[in-house]
Amino acid sequence: MSKIQILDKQFKLFIPAADIQKAVTEMAGRMNEELKGRDIIFIAILNGAFMFAADLYRKLEIPSRITFLKLASYEGTTTSGKVKRLVGLGENLKGLTVVVIEDIVDTGVTLDHIVKQLKGYEPADIKIATLFFKPGTYRYEIPLDYVGIEVPDEFIVGYGLDYNGYGRNLEDLYVL
Ligand code: IMP
Ligand code: MG
Repeated sequence: MSKIQILDKQFKLFIPAADIQKAVTEMAGRMNEELKGRDIIFIAILNGAFMFAADLYRKLEIPSRITFLKLASYEGTTTSGKVKRLVGLGENLKGLTVVVIEDIVDTGVTLDHIVKQLKGYEPADIKIATLFFKPGTYRYEIPLDYVGIEVPDEFIVGYGLDYNGYGRNLEDLYVL
């Protein structure tokens, strides 16, 4: 299908499933080499990263653990507005190599919240893996260790990414 309708919007095919899978396989290959011998825990950020995390994780051959976290938004008291608090972390991260798995990094605001909070758990190292990255809008200095596919500053859905909750099930990536 080259065009799809989700709620009130029409999206067109942007990146076919095969290209996404190729990027995931390449990233897993790099991780298998570069993260060898470390005590690793992958932390996938829900909801969006669930599909990417599942595909990536089954391609990994290094011993490791995986857990899932959610960001709960609430209104902060500062002028910066919304603060996003990480919820669901039961594991002890002290001394571990943490690999954050994100679906997409856009401005980087979300990632900044995640990294700041994870540092409080005193891991040995924090690495970032994101399937999609919008370099045109990124405004932080946090290095992205693993990037699957760079995308332009446009709204995309599919492969875990949603439009108002819909479209996560699509195997291909679509653009508005
Ligand atoms: P950031 O905080 O601006 O980096 O945005 C990151 C979050 O916004 C992602 O985890 C997604 O949930 C969401 N997001 C950013 N861009 C898109 C998009 O193009 N489609 C769907 N969700 C997006
Ligand atoms: Mg997300």
